[in-house]
Amino acid sequence: MAGERRDLVDSFGRVIRDLRISVTDRCNFRCTYCMPEEGMKWLDREEVLSFEEFERIARIFVERCGVEGIRLTGGEPTVRADIVTLVQKLAALNVDLAMTTNGSRLTSLAHDLRAAGLRRLNISLDTLRRERFTEMTRRDELDKVLAGIDAAIDAGFDPVKVNAVVERGVNDDEIVDLAQFGRERGVEVRFIEFMPLDASGHWVNDSVVGQDEIVETIAAVFPLEPVPARGAAPADRWRYLDGRGMVGVIPSVTKPFCGDCDRVRLTAEGQFRTCLFATEEFDVRTLLRGGASDDEIVELLASAVGDKWAGHQINQVSFTRPARTMSQIGG
Ligand code: GTP
Ligand code: 5AD
Ligand code: SF4
Repeated sequence: MAGERRDLVDSFGRVIRDLRISVTDRCNFRCTYCMPEEGMKWLDREEVLSFEEFERIARIFVERCGVEGIRLTGGEPTVRADIVTLVQKLAALNVDLAMTTNGSRLTSLAHDLRAAGLRRLNISLDTLRRERFTEMTRRDELDKVLAGIDAAIDAGFDPVKVNAVVERGVNDDEIVDLAQFGRERGVEVRFIEFMPLDASGHWVNDSVVGQDEIVETIAAVFPLEPVPARGAAPADRWRYLDGRGMVGVIPSVTKPFCGDCDRVRLTAEGQFRTCLFATEEFDVRTLLRGGASDDEIVELLASAVGDKWAGHQINQVSFTRPARTMSQIGG
């Protein structure tokens, strides 16, 4: 029986339309801005939600709460066994189904993911230099990721977006090279301001390369014009004046976009988070496993969203880092 529809609306009038589901906390990379080299404590198998549990909660979000887009994240979503089957199950909900991945397994998976009903792929790539890639991800797999991007294009994903986190003194000298890569391959590169979610805690304000600097650096070589109307998406976008595609910047630190946020998150172990930087979580798994009705679950989601805060406070002294790393939240 379909229950009553109830949009998730917070106290600032923002309506939730986008759900990010972390399908595993594990990853085959160890990016320095995300995870420690060693010592991550992984969730036990039984702690992680099953495909049936993900399917049920996703269905509730879509059919009861008006969610229109679902993005699968990790850790690295493609290391979850049989991820194609999960995509197939969620594709039946007929929403904008997307995935954010490090790209390393796409040569074998891209076509199957596409056939299973995945609509969009965002792939992380922070450098085009092999040694630097190995330093940044602690894995010597640049070639695999580049081949993965080609595989995604070949499988028909359109757009394919490439995410590049920019860290001062680490890869900020590659902004133009990465932009050029996007122009040549026909992918939309989005430069991401480094956020204080790194496991090692080495983030400092000076390590952030801000949106204005990124855009000026690119525009000095490839002239740009802004594309208006970003809506609830995190990226501001620009068009190359010569018609060679688009480029984006995700300015979480210098120009926070929390005011238009329509996102919520579910972690791999079924904890509901109403902000990337939330310090509080709501235990959906206990309801799922305790025989709760859909109505009871909707009630928990609605009351959690009712308390969604105005936004993160990265730039204020009151800022508190969440206890989790990016890999445990799903980005
Ligand atoms: P599109 O649907 O293609 O726009 O995807 P997306 O940009 O929302 O998702 P993606 O997983 O590619 O995320 C790109 C970057 O944006 C990552 O660094 C995310 O952590 C960041 N991001 C996504 N959502 C939020 C958010 O709500 N707040 C902040 N501060 N950053 C976010
Ligand atoms: N700051 C900004 N972006 C980050 N990501 C991971 N850690 C950070 C961080 N500390 C990005 C990844 C991926 C997305 C899910 O989040 O590069 O593109
Ligand atoms: Fe893995 Fe993504 Fe974190 Fe890199 S940023 S360690 S690929 S989860």
